[in-house]
Amino acid sequence: MCGITGYIGYRDAYPIIINGLQRLEYRGYDSAGIVLYDGKDIVLSKTKGKVSDLLERTASEISTKGNLGIGHTRWATHGVPNDVNSHPHTSASGELVIVHNGIIENYDTIKKELTNRGYSFKSDTDTEVLVNLIEEVKKQYKVKLGKAVQIALNQVIGAYAIAVFDKSKPDEIVVARLGSPIAIGIGKDKKEFFVASDASPFIEYTKDAIYLEDEEMAIIKVGKDVEIRKIHDDSLVDADVQELQMNLEQIEKSGYDHFMLKEIYEQPRAITDTYRGRLLRNEGLIKMAGVEDNMKKFLNADRIIIVACGTSWHAGLVAEYIFEEFARIPVEVEYASEFRYRNPIITEKDVLIAISQSGETADTLAAVKLAKEKGAFVFGVCNVVGSSIARETHAGAYTHAGPEIGVASTKAFTTQITVLSLMALRLSRAKGTMSSSDYRLHLQELELIPEKVERALKIDEHVKEIAKEYLLSTNCLYLGRGYNFPVALEGALKLKEISYIHAEGYPAAEMKHGPIALIDDRMPVIVIATSMGHYEKVVSNIQEIKSRKGKIIAVVTEGDVQVKEIADHVIEIPETEEAFTPLLTTIPLQLLSYHIAVMRNCNVDQPRNLAKSVTVE
Ligand code: M6R
Repeated sequence: MCGITGYIGYRDAYPIIINGLQRLEYRGYDSAGIVLYDGKDIVLSKTKGKVSDLLERTASEISTKGNLGIGHTRWATHGVPNDVNSHPHTSASGELVIVHNGIIENYDTIKKELTNRGYSFKSDTDTEVLVNLIEEVKKQYKVKLGKAVQIALNQVIGAYAIAVFDKSKPDEIVVARLGSPIAIGIGKDKKEFFVASDASPFIEYTKDAIYLEDEEMAIIKVGKDVEIRKIHDDSLVDADVQELQMNLEQIEKSGYDHFMLKEIYEQPRAITDTYRGRLLRNEGLIKMAGVEDNMKKFLNADRIIIVACGTSWHAGLVAEYIFEEFARIPVEVEYASEFRYRNPIITEKDVLIAISQSGETADTLAAVKLAKEKGAFVFGVCNVVGSSIARETHAGAYTHAGPEIGVASTKAFTTQITVLSLMALRLSRAKGTMSSSDYRLHLQELELIPEKVERALKIDEHVKEIAKEYLLSTNCLYLGRGYNFPVALEGALKLKEISYIHAEGYPAAEMKHGPIALIDDRMPVIVIATSMGHYEKVVSNIQEIKSRKGKIIAVVTEGDVQVKEIADHVIEIPETEEAFTPLLTTIPLQLLSYHIAVMRNCNVDQPRNLAKSVTVE
């Protein structure tokens, strides 16, 4: 959570930092701030609210000159969102300024020690404590900023990505990371450098970037190589300069009203990119290096444990059905946050698959580390290339969905299911658990999914009409069975997170065990009733809802007759193999929640209280 960005070089830092903050706003958006060095002094502006509020404020409040600066967009942890708690924070002397993403867990102890030494604090944040600790170390040990940062960080417990500079020596930015990401963009001939939580703020300026590893810090000076050191033992680290694959178009809205809508519509392309080069239908092959190189681990596994959070957890649930059906390997799906704290039984014969769009989710990352410690083989399914989980796992497969900016996950979900389907199919081949004809049929069908998603998207206007009828609902029930039970959960999550309507997902047959009591003529029930997979039983559930006057929105297969006669609304999706139906049934549910949220005037891309990547527990 929180986005940090910075610039040092020959250009005006202000527009670079403001643009960068706008691109990082998906990480947190309850307050924003910027500090610049104008050649003589620092100028600082910060405010509760969004980067647009900061823009308004800076326009009237401060000079925007200067070639050095850092900025922050916040998702509050310590201290309510208000102007004072917003970052950047200055040290007591006003010499040092800092922006921070993460949590300093022992801030209270440090604060007491600093208070005893005469420090006082303006804000309630852990970050202000950290900048003062750096200042105190700098004074006490008479060291330069980089060394002071290093000594101070060795005293803190917690997670951080920080950027700091010293107004009395305004020729460097010092950055450091533990548990929260930080990227350094290297300008041409090292005449300028960029700092950010991800590479999006500097994509138009350079393709060369260094991603700091955990426990690393860097001293960034114009004209010099970036000096990277291990925080705990001061050893020098060789910089691993990577070429960025991202382009500007991918991180802009390209004419759509919201990133979420753009990302929903990108799914045919994203799914194609996911299987490109992996699904070789003509040869009847699936090639995935991460699976191929570790085939023995998968084949000898007693079970697969999947860990994830939120939407990625739902993709894990779909994968459970697919792996067990295709490859006959037992699968357990766990919330990463529960798994890591319950002393789970993990052996060397377990394979753990961690699913994460961002690759930065703190609980999933911790579950990965735990499983590694216990000797399991750990495989990552991530979207963000070079992310912490991608680096921490033994092997993995990227989803190649492209940047997902909308806080509500859409294309991440369908591309995760695509990767996991490819893996399950590959393993079914290796284990001989699927007949050759079924295997070929599934390859062929998977290849057709992007075109079918394209067709499913054509119902958008129809879904919008349905949305108009339900925008004032206060509750919603989502039902599905088998492969589509996780889709029901995902549909409910999408609705609640962006429209703030309470929604629950249930396996359709469970309705009778409680939720049926909720049904009356004001309760919309979204039922996934595709032609395969317990169709008749789901139709019976629909009858039960109807006889209690519930409003039924049914997602059915093209050509359906039976459900059409009972449901209040039907949304048709193309036919496919049962295991791949989640890739299609999820599309109308994404669109329904999107339209309801827009009609309710909700901030679709930045729902209240949420952030795109949850890098704190
Ligand atoms: O980046 P991750 O996939 O690890 O994120 C997991 C969840 O935080 C995420 O899916 C969240 O639930 C989304 N807001 C759902 O739309």
